[in-house]
Amino acid sequence: MRLKNKIAIITGGTSGIGQATAIRFAEEGADLVITGRRVSLGKTVEAECRNKGVRCVFVEADHSKMEDCQRVVDAALKEFNRIDILFNNAGIVTKGTAETTDEETWQSTIDINITAVWRMCKLVLPHMKEQGKGVIVNNGSDWSVVAGKDAFPYIMSKGAVGMMTKAMALDYAREGIRVNAVCPGDTFVERWMEKGYFENSDPVTVEEAMKESSEYIPMGRFGKPEEIANAVVFLASDEASFVTGHLLLVDGGNTAQ
Ligand SMILES: NC(=O)c1ccc[n+]([C@@H]2O[C@H](COP(=O)([O-])OP(=O)(O)OC[C@H]3O[C@@H](n4cnc5c(N)ncnc54)[C@H](OP(=O)(O)O)[C@@H]3O)[C@@H](O)[C@H]2O)c1
Repeated sequence: MRLKNKIAIITGGTSGIGQATAIRFAEEGADLVITGRRVSLGKTVEAECRNKGVRCVFVEADHSKMEDCQRVVDAALKEFNRIDILFNNAGIVTKGTAETTDEETWQSTIDINITAVWRMCKLVLPHMKEQGKGVIVNNGSDWSVVAGKDAFPYIMSKGAVGMMTKAMALDYAREGIRVNAVCPGDTFVERWMEKGYFENSDPVTVEEAMKESSEYIPMGRFGKPEEIANAVVFLASDEASFVTGHLLLVDGGNTAQ
């Protein structure tokens, strides 16, 4: 129960890493507000967390809109009267090179992967300051620290998440607020099974990607959402009380090579 009596907001809790983190947080005793646009999945995760014995509220929200971000923070304060932890997890994967990226893709990547992180922090920080305590964990990527091919807008956005994390850590260190990022390497999530996910990519199918991972990832496999969630639990808990401005790579050794 490393998060007992803590109140946490998890953005993008409807699937993948956000869902796994919501469940791990619930197992560790945190009360939760989880968000996302897919209502039925959100309700399912809400029920899964409640079954672990904690309070959990799903709020339908599109984090590319400021008014939705505000609604999420308002809901957390109305329900729980404080916010101890913010996990900025919601994000999209976008592909392409500098040449092939169009304006719409560029802008939507910025809106959700960068601006939404800033908005949620801007809204939550005054409350954490008033409390004299708080933890923010941003979901970066191994591409927050190294680049790769054919994911130019995504890599740009995750690089920004890394530097936003460090800048906020410095600005709020004396306020008792820690800001860190978890930086997952390739982590197998259900979204990858959706038709068209690997379209125009190399590899082009999940099977090919799985096979390739055993060659390029030192540990020989993709990560599991629960393995990323475990790192978020650590960063969010008091066990990480002297950790701030850190980008925690959870990537099976990928960036060590
Ligand atoms: N899987 C990986 O290999 C990997 C590696 C490095 C980093 N990451 C990062 O991990 C985070 C989670 O991704 P995932 O891999 O778990 O994939 P996922 O299952 O697709 O999760 C993405 C989450 O973000 C939410 N989201 C996306 N756009 C949103 C919006 N406009 N408003 C509100 N919620 C939004 C989605 O909810 P709705 O669709 O319901 O809105 C969903 O819950 C992302 O930031 C991603 O960049 C993933």
